[in-house]
Amino acid sequence: MSDLKNSLFLKALRGEPTERTPIWVMRQAGRYLPEYMQVREKISFNDLCRTPEAACEVTLQPVRRFGFDAAIMFSDILTPLEAMGAPFDFSQGGPKLERPLRDEKDIRALRRYPSLEGVPYVAEAIGLMKQGLGDRTPLIGFAGSPFTLATYLIEGGGSKDYAYLKTMLYSRPELLQELLDKLGDQILDYLRMQVDAGVDAVQLFDTWGGILHPADYRTMVLPVVRRIMDGLKDSGVPRIYFLKGSAPYNHLIKDLDVEAFGVDWTQDLSLAIDQMGGKAVQGNLDPLCLYGDREQIRRRALEICAKGAAASGHVFNLGHGILPKTPISAVETLVETVQGYRKE
Ligand code: CP3
Repeated sequence: MSDLKNSLFLKALRGEPTERTPIWVMRQAGRYLPEYMQVREKISFNDLCRTPEAACEVTLQPVRRFGFDAAIMFSDILTPLEAMGAPFDFSQGGPKLERPLRDEKDIRALRRYPSLEGVPYVAEAIGLMKQGLGDRTPLIGFAGSPFTLATYLIEGGGSKDYAYLKTMLYSRPELLQELLDKLGDQILDYLRMQVDAGVDAVQLFDTWGGILHPADYRTMVLPVVRRIMDGLKDSGVPRIYFLKGSAPYNHLIKDLDVEAFGVDWTQDLSLAIDQMGGKAVQGNLDPLCLYGDREQIRRRALEICAKGAAASGHVFNLGHGILPKTPISAVETLVETVQGYRKE
């Protein structure tokens, strides 16, 4: 067996005992890192996602600096949408779609494509990242869930109330369903391509799945998440489902065939472990705790480690992405604390 299969991260996801708790953080390659900002002075965010050498460099940066136990490939959840005919502009801060999807004509105009051909730079970047990481640090591939992608496609960017999406849900649910199914096909193909290219685990980001009534979550979101996860089962890599705001849905998602659930910071980790029993968990420190002082970071991180010790596998993470103003010293404190923790 290669060293990688015995990495703390992959062992924890398989529910095997580990000497210590592995840690990585969502959005670990990003604007809080001066070396990332240096790269961004020379290249736009969109070009960074499409240029394998540069994407590889920023993927490795946080692993080099902090010694995280996993790397996540640098890209964006919106990257695969451009080849479907929905290019996002990131130059004004948040993502913007020139022509949001509002009716069946728009939705039917979205193109399905073979991922290896439509976004060849992603597979190429994964190849470089795997070389750069060697057999010490596993690489996580990822995609956005169809529902979260649909919010960006229909709203045309971020949103406070999701008025367009919800108007569609409450007036033409079959149209929203059609969009989700189409995205589901594309995302399954996209993730399988990443596995073929060499990623060691995959995470599905469902950042906005939590904005629905549980009954709507169950009928609109869960089936397509299940189809993607089931479709990845034979690929053999661990599958992580991160649904932000999942607390009211834990009883619905617990039977998904995945290796691990990401848990956001609004939940007590012990309760989430009870509710989703038998699976590994990943989480769940409030990203804003890293704006606090050293003692709080240590105390709260250790509490989470202790709670995670009761799970069948715990990967330490934040409950959502790390924020741009996070001090480097806070991340150092966090990593040192988690990597220093030992189960009693
Ligand atoms: O985790 C990593 O380090 C890998 C890279 C990664 C990025 N985005 C880089 C990025 C990942 C996994 C994502 C996921 C992502 N992207 C999500 C899901 C997770 C989450 O945080 O909720 C979502 C909703 C997006 C969409 C997105 N991308 C938004 C809303 C924005 C603008 C807001 C913001 O944070 O800037 C982005 C841009 C983005 N994606 C940046 C980075 C580093 C900043 C762009 C820059 O460098 O200027």
